Amino acid sequence: MSSEKSSTNHHLKALLVAFFLVMTTAFSWAAGNPDNGKTIFKANCARCHYVTDQKMIGPGLAGVKDRWSDEANLHKWIKNSQEFLKTGDKYANDLFAQFNSSVMPSFNLKDEEIADVLAYIEKGEAPVVTEGPVVGPGGEKTDSKGSTSRNIIIIVLVIAAIVLLVLARALSTVSRSMDNISRKETGEDLHPERTPFDFFTNLWKWLGAHKKLALFLGIILSSWLSYEAFMALSKLGVYTNNKPEQPIKFSHVTHVKQNGIDCKYCHSTAEKSRHAGIPSSNVCMNCHKAVNEGPKTKRSEISKIYAAIGWNPVDLKYFDNYQSMDPEKIKKVFKEWLAEEPGSFEGMEAQIQKPVKWNQVHVLPDHVFFSHQQHVKVGKIDCAECHGKIEEMETVEQFAPLTMGWCINCHRKTEVQFASNGYYERLHNYYKEHYGEYEMRKGQAFTVEKIGGLECSKCHY
Ligand code: HEC
Ligand code: HEC
Ligand code: HEC
Ligand code: HEC
Ligand code: HEC
Ligand code: HEC
Repeated sequence: MSSEKSSTNHHLKALLVAFFLVMTTAFSWAAGNPDNGKTIFKANCARCHYVTDQKMIGPGLAGVKDRWSDEANLHKWIKNSQEFLKTGDKYANDLFAQFNSSVMPSFNLKDEEIADVLAYIEKGEAPVVTEGPVVGPGGEKTDSKGSTSRNIIIIVLVIAAIVLLVLARALSTVSRSMDNISRKETGEDLHPERTPFDFFTNLWKWLGAHKKLALFLGIILSSWLSYEAFMALSKLGVYTNNKPEQPIKFSHVTHVKQNGIDCKYCHSTAEKSRHAGIPSSNVCMNCHKAVNEGPKTKRSEISKIYAAIGWNPVDLKYFDNYQSMDPEKIKKVFKEWLAEEPGSFEGMEAQIQKPVKWNQVHVLPDHVFFSHQQHVKVGKIDCAECHGKIEEMETVEQFAPLTMGWCINCHRKTEVQFASNGYYERLHNYYKEHYGEYEMRKGQAFTVEKIGGLECSKCHY
């Protein structure tokens, strides 16, 4: 009888081994090839290449395998392009010249990894870096591909779980009948009470008895979970649709759309400096000495400006020595002022004697240089191209992705505004000399790229 038991175990083991083999191959297949290539590509190549045939800093990589007669050379190029140029390969040297001798950095990648990248390129995808207007307000980046392969993993896992449960079930039945047989021999109760958790208790016991297998399962499960978590996190950094709450419910709809106030009234340095600037509370007071109620928020939000700057809305004058006043005296004034709006005082109390601290919506990394003057005044670009329809936003949110690809895309296709542009009166002649009337007359677009808008040092310190 004990030989019967061990043979059942034998079968089960064989089944489990086969099943885990299938599962692990499914995993290594999913982690390799295009999906792995995509990860490597995004980390190393995406800032200069699209996988379509569109140019960025480097050529669009669609169909690149066909352009290289020898795949081994392609691998060598990707590992170290400068080294490969020394072989005198004509195609590579022509390409290098065509891209104004821009150096493609070398990469410490294994051949398998390069094969993965090439597989990803071959598979193709919509541009990796989304253009500004594509990601609208509140718009999600649509990750159309990539989820399919993950779905396959999920399906495999679900099937795996079912198989495991069935196996555990079978095992528990077998072990129970063994028990019964042995109990029959010893004259014990044939039908011990079955708890509803019988099945899971058995599974737990079984896992306990097969610690190595359990460990293996655990590792697979947790690595899959951390992979998912990592992917979810890595998306966060790139496509933030930043929409922070603000200390005062300032509405661009009320001010711009309904009251027709010009952007530059408040963002007055947009044409003169790097920053467009956020208006100080003094600027608000130009109007809000008179306007002390809003259509939506009544007195509650506007009083926060008063509390910050020290305006007494009852006496219609500034408090004397506001910053050193006894806060209780100030509170008394505002409590009375807001008496007819329950809850309003509690909402604005924190703003008393404190400057308004607006939360930044658009944030570029420190190593990037961006100037509003260059774009608004010289480039004559409308605010909406980069910020969307601010006049429709009750709360401002980030519109464009602010990635390097976004900046570069626009520099590639936007023409420099020479006409009636004071800034260019002198430069115009220089460019004409430099590039010749010929090219200009030919009607070729004279894009920002041509004045050096793709040079690393223009945007990076
Ligand atoms: C800093 C920008 C930059 C990065 C990053 C970069 N490349 Fe390039 N790549 C270029 C440029 C520029 C060229 C054109 C040739 C030249 O000027 O060196 C090029 C050319 C190529 C070519 C030849 C294209 C053709 O049409 O034949 C391939 C293939 C290529 N790169 C692959 C990659 C891969 C794969 C990565 C990531 C592992 C990568 N590149 C990262 C800038 C870059
Ligand atoms: C009455 C003054 C006023 C006017 C007019 C105004 N803004 Fe603003 N704007 C503000 C204030 C105050 C903030 C900061 C609070 C916020 O983000 O809502 C702001 C924030 C912004 C931000 C986000 C800043 C950040 O932190 O990144 C942008 C972009 C912006 N405004 C663009 C515009 C544009 C474009 C217009 C014209 C269509 C405009 N604004 C008109 C006062 C104004
Ligand atoms: C070419 C794209 C572009 C245009 C056009 C543009 N902005 Fe911006 N704006 C940006 C970027 C990028 C940032 C983030 C800057 C940073 O973090 O240094 C920004 C930031 C801001 C901010 C936050 C404060 C600051 O100055 O950093 C305000 C306010 C703002 N823009 C208002 C405007 C207004 C008003 C206009 C039109 C007169 C305008 N912008 C036109 C790209 C643009
Ligand atoms: C050029 C004039 C002007 C400036 C400058 C101005 N506002 Fe206003 N504000 C208005 C007008 C007009 C209203 C609407 C009054 C109405 O419709 O009854 C308003 C309404 C408001 C409201 C109430 C909104 C609602 O819908 O209830 C708040 C809050 C507000 N402003 C905050 C600010 C802040 C903060 C600043 C400074 C950053 C500012 N305003 C600058 C003219 C201005
Ligand atoms: C909507 C199109 C657009 C976007 C988006 C854009 N730019 Fe520009 N940029 C221009 C134009 C047009 C000019 C040319 C202005 C001129 O005539 O000098 C320019 C010029 C520049 C220059 C000066 C280039 C030179 O050779 O003098 C810098 C630096 C620059 N942009 C940085 C950036 C950065 C950084 C970003 C992204 C955060 C960005 N730009 C996004 C259109 C854009
Ligand atoms: C038109 C402006 C512009 C030009 C030209 C430009 N960059 Fe960038 N770059 C950016 C912006 C904006 C960011 C930050 C946003 C991001 O990370 O995508 C950035 C980020 C980067 C980063 C950091 C990437 C990361 O993941 O944090 C590197 C590295 C970089 N650039 C290298 C280069 C090199 C090399 C060149 C020249 C071939 C170059 N850049 C040309 C605008 C530019």
